[in-house]
Amino acid sequence: MALLEWGRFGRGDRRILKGAITGLLKDGEFRGRLLEVAFVHNLNNATSKWTVLVGVGKQEKFDLVRFRNALHAAARSLRKRGHKEVTVLLTKDLAGKTSPADLARAVTEGVALGNFEIAALKTRHEDAVTRIDGLSIGGLDGQKAAADAVKEAIALADATNQVREWINAPANTFTPSVFVDKVKGAVKGADLEIEVLDMDEMKKLKMGALLAVARGSDEPAKMIVLRYKNGRKGGPMLGLVGKGITFDSGGISIKPAQNMEMMKSDMGGGAAVVGAMLAIAELKPKVNVIGIVPTTENMPSGHAIKPGDVVTGSGGKTIEIINTDAEGRLILSDGITYAVKHGATHIVDIATLTGSIMRTLGPVAMGAFSNDPKLMDLVRRAADLAGERVWELPLWADYDGLMDSQVADLKNASVPWAGATTAAVFLREFVEGRPWVHLDIAGSAWQDAGELKTIPRGPTGSGVRLLAHLAGLLADN
Ligand code: BES
Ligand code: MN
Ligand code: ZN
Repeated sequence: MALLEWGRFGRGDRRILKGAITGLLKDGEFRGRLLEVAFVHNLNNATSKWTVLVGVGKQEKFDLVRFRNALHAAARSLRKRGHKEVTVLLTKDLAGKTSPADLARAVTEGVALGNFEIAALKTRHEDAVTRIDGLSIGGLDGQKAAADAVKEAIALADATNQVREWINAPANTFTPSVFVDKVKGAVKGADLEIEVLDMDEMKKLKMGALLAVARGSDEPAKMIVLRYKNGRKGGPMLGLVGKGITFDSGGISIKPAQNMEMMKSDMGGGAAVVGAMLAIAELKPKVNVIGIVPTTENMPSGHAIKPGDVVTGSGGKTIEIINTDAEGRLILSDGITYAVKHGATHIVDIATLTGSIMRTLGPVAMGAFSNDPKLMDLVRRAADLAGERVWELPLWADYDGLMDSQVADLKNASVPWAGATTAAVFLREFVEGRPWVHLDIAGSAWQDAGELKTIPRGPTGSGVRLLAHLAGLLADN
């Protein structure tokens, strides 16, 4: 059980509280179930007005992902009640469970992530819309390690919340051009170089796959390139490539109307790359990173690509369009080729790519595919640090050839099964043998209906923290 307390926490309060909490527990008023929150006013006349008990569930089911999310939920309810400052007191049994740094990270990120507001466009609010801007943590040992972790966690949570805001923005106010402007604003003063390719430059570079998707839209496509340089010459260069579809109607292979409004979030991978770059620029790992975000709408129109069309990507491969709704892999392919051409030694792409991964893992985890066990291991370690869940799916040779076309080198859609896998098989064609991990966040980027209490409703910012930690791990290697 963790104790979240608002206000100033005076000496001796813990002693005063302890008896009272034991009383509450005895009476069964609070059981400590995961995400259970109990507000107690003026508990035993403690110096703070409110004491909030937060359940983190059964000891044997404890993990840092669920712990973070419990604090996230608690911070959200505190914020909704207008509280701005919290002190989190960790119980002794919690402190004994994990390292002080991991606990500090989880607490800070949990509380800071609770500041995100999905209803930002409401003109009338039922709840107070305050932000929690003060946090103290009590009950931690290892002050130095914890303090460093807190600083990192704040940068990571801020970047994540920024990304969630972008993903939440409706597609009419978040076009590829607006995306570019937002990124330009966000990187101002950061230790990052930014370059934006327009459609003329894409044509020069023969990015036929990205341009094919862009054809149906009146909004010009862009490719955002961010560079972070802090590694030695000849050292690893991490290439992050994110899908930036600001709205996915499906194109001529149009989607059904049901839930189509969700497709404003189809730039979640691209936004995650930008968020990670922003965090990396603050955490300053000694490594080089290039972040690439191809961004466009996918729309039907008289100019749009049609099933049966064949297009040529910037790497020279010809692609038969079977389904215009399989657009993410098309724009990613030109992004990945760009990463390879610009010296990326390790490639991680991230995308809201398939309904298939959503049906498989739900909002709980991202799906991963890889051609390199070592890089995959680093991604898993990064996920652990981030408190994000990732699950690897196989790319056995049995799946080879599924994306071969009769008329071109490749086709963009294939059999009606293993949808997340076939997308990965397609993408692998563009990495030129570089160590590569593909992250499919179509499930984890957003929780719509709120069936799972352990995951926040709305955009989650999936991948931001994982990618930022990955850069750090690649630097240490
Ligand atoms: N953006 C979608 C995937 C998606 C679905 C994301 C649901 C979030 C929630 C993607 O572009 C898509 O349409 N994928 C198709 C591919 C198919 C046509 C081969 C899919 O998964 O059905
Ligand atoms: Mn699509
Ligand atoms: Zn899409």
